[in-house]
Amino acid sequence: MRQKVTIHSLQEKVRNGEKITMLTCYDYPMALLEEKAGIDIILCGDSMAMTVFGHENTLGMTMDPMILHAQAVRKGAPGAFLVGDMPYMSYQISPQEAIRNAGRYMAEAGCDAVKLEGGANMAKTVEALVNATIPVMGHLGLPPQSIAQLGGFKSQGRDAEGAKKIIEDARILEEAGISLLLLEAVPPEVGAIIAERAKIPVIGIGAGPHVHGQLLIVHDALGFFDAFTPKFVKKYLDLNSSILEALENYKQDVVEGRFPQEEHCYKFKAGELEKLYQQLE
Ligand code: KIV
Repeated sequence: MRQKVTIHSLQEKVRNGEKITMLTCYDYPMALLEEKAGIDIILCGDSMAMTVFGHENTLGMTMDPMILHAQAVRKGAPGAFLVGDMPYMSYQISPQEAIRNAGRYMAEAGCDAVKLEGGANMAKTVEALVNATIPVMGHLGLPPQSIAQLGGFKSQGRDAEGAKKIIEDARILEEAGISLLLLEAVPPEVGAIIAERAKIPVIGIGAGPHVHGQLLIVHDALGFFDAFTPKFVKKYLDLNSSILEALENYKQDVVEGRFPQEEHCYKFKAGELEKLYQQLE
């Protein structure tokens, strides 16, 4: 088993100029593979609302299924730094509610940190979580849970005013005590400015190459989700095509009698089949 990834080992990577790798994960078999591949940070993300449960956005996720999935991921990836994503309305109502829900990720799923969306408006909540011993990853740029206000999944910080707000929010969140920051769908220059100023690891998903590490949604990276593909996605596999081909081959084999073959069938113990036939006569 590899050495457990901790906030300290992640900070060391930043100090040594090594890039941090991060992927989402929602279940045990994928967690086993991400652990084997040595991925540093795993996000059990509320993106599973879309990738796993087929919703149009992430607003439908709630704490109970998130905890179940995070438990499965933790089992498969004991060495990774596991971040539990705070679903919609699990932290916005009050800092107390945020502590109660985030605490479940730590106590019930063995997470190393929780992630929440928002900037200055979340500073008090971040402080409360940190005071309650819960490490926090901030999430700035495109906040998918604000889709109703944004009018869609749109890149952010592409004008001076928008970029300045994100840079300022990053500073405020860091002062409030976040241990890590995720930046989504912003120009690389915004990523570079924030990463250079930050004393914490800054991970990007569509934030260019100058941040300290990269995140992709694993279903995007493997070509396992094609409802839409954001600009920042690189596909490392066309899993959908491979799986579809296998399913079609299976169907054809069954329909045309090529499956099962002798090697897929159980054998009677010696002499027992003859005995059965005699008894059935
Ligand atoms: O839930 C998730 O996977 C996320 C990413 C979109 C960053 O929050």
